Amino acid sequence: MTAPTLIALISQKGGSGKTTVAMQLAAGLALAGHRVALADLDPQESASRWAESAPPEDPFAAEVVRLRGSAAAMAKALRPVGNRVDIVVMDCPPSIEHPHTMSALDLCHLALVPVVPSPTDLWATRGIERLILDRRQHRPELRGALLPNRVMRTALAGDVLDVLQDFQLPVLDAALAQRSAYALSAVRGTSVFGLGRSAAAAQEEVSQLVAAVLRLIGD
Ligand SMILES: Nc1ncnc2c1ncn2[C@@H]1O[C@H](COP(=O)(O)OP(=O)(O)O)[C@@H](O)[C@H]1O
Ligand SMILES: [Mg+2]
Repeated sequence: MTAPTLIALISQKGGSGKTTVAMQLAAGLALAGHRVALADLDPQESASRWAESAPPEDPFAAEVVRLRGSAAAMAKALRPVGNRVDIVVMDCPPSIEHPHTMSALDLCHLALVPVVPSPTDLWATRGIERLILDRRQHRPELRGALLPNRVMRTALAGDVLDVLQDFQLPVLDAALAQRSAYALSAVRGTSVFGLGRSAAAAQEEVSQLVAAVLRLIGD
């Protein structure tokens, strides 16, 4: 039996979409037939609450586990889960100074950084990129990628997306637009796949995200 692949959603600040992307990615991977767990590393537990608010007749597609403490403690807590799943999606706290974020970076195979195309997010991304590149010196197997989120069709967004190409971390071959379907699915305790045809554009984006992530982790 091989250990599951760990994908951490990580960023320097809150509001970039870590929880949103973690939930959609976990649901999308599960729908694509992968055995998935969602690990909630954020003491605010928004991902856990999101999944718990799903209606009983339509439970959230992935198992949810709360992870706390050091990397060693998390690895231990993940052992029984690892026997059941192929992929663990980890939702991290809204700060890179938080010890859980550091634990995630010590464990994960892929650090996925959601970036809102705005100047402040861009500056914050320099910090998290440095951290990932630094960790990679100790863990060469660690991969990192940037994921544009809340993308709007404005000149500013276009400029920021251009600047992302100058980062050392690759930009994932996928992006999520600013769409009410993402916020709505959180309220309903589902993913965009639970919203029906009205969320077709968001479903297509998440499917592309799933495909890009699977390519990156070599599935
Ligand atoms: N692509 C998107 N389109 C619309 N709203 C989004 C999108 N991504 C995130 N949001 C909203 O932005 C807010 C912050 O997102 P969240 O995932 O909680 O960020 P984080 O976990 O990084 O703090 C939430 O209200 C969420 O619904
Ligand atoms: Mg969050």
